[in-house]
Amino acid sequence: MKIRRLRHDEHAPMNLLLLADPSSEKVNDYLRKGTCFVAENNKELIGAYVLLSIKPNIIEIMNIAVAEQYQNKGIGKQLVMDAVTKARKYGYEYVEIGTGNSSIGQLALYQKCGFRMVGIDIDYFSRNYVEEIVENGIPCHDMIRLSMKL
Ligand code: ACO
Ligand code: ACO
Repeated sequence: MKIRRLRHDEHAPMNLLLLADPSSEKVNDYLRKGTCFVAENNKELIGAYVLLSIKPNIIEIMNIAVAEQYQNKGIGKQLVMDAVTKARKYGYEYVEIGTGNSSIGQLALYQKCGFRMVGIDIDYFSRNYVEEIVENGIPCHDMIRLSMKL
């Protein structure tokens, strides 16, 4: 598997990015402003993430996704750590990531990668998404903000 920047002549893997964020409008917005990286295996795109500079010293992983049949094999962790390596190389001080209060596996993964919880954006999902989101039997209302000092 190779992780590389999405080429300008390629379409972004929307099928993957929409796994992480149901709003195609939001995905298109941060694709326009940020940089998309993809994990390629035998010419198939099996993972993706998007990095976006949100402050001069902070870069955020806006979206991260692995194709369903390849999940739970360590690829998500490799993508997160690749994003962290790139953020450090680009000279940022912090990498941030946000996920829903109901995203138990994602919260586990990001903390295993070294992120710490630094805040809660109360009602972020209730405010920004029309459809109700439920995961692990838990209604998703709030965004948990996590950060890693580089
Ligand atoms: N309790 C404890 N640990 C857990 C749990 C849990 N309930 N669920 C998952 N984990 C751990 C696993 O044990 C594993 O850690 P380990 O390697 O120490 O065993 C880790 O979390 C998962 O690691 P990977 O296998 O590397 O993850 P995967 O390749 O499945 O990718 C991802 C994770 C990207 C979240 C994938 O499941 C996915 O694409 N999901 C759908 C899209 C999504 O939710 N994206 C994130 C939204 S937030 C955002 O985009 C900023
Ligand atoms: N992902 C998703 N759901 C989970 C997970 C997980 N990783 N782990 C537990 N759950 C859910 C279960 O699915 C279940 O929900 P469900 O009924 O919808 O399926 C629920 O959490 C657990 O419910 P119970 O079976 O009622 O809980 P239990 O009788 O096991 O009691 C308790 C929970 C008190 C935490 C018990 O496990 C315990 O005594 N643990 C050790 C002591 C402890 O940690 N106490 C809490 C410390 S914090 C405090 O005291 C304020």
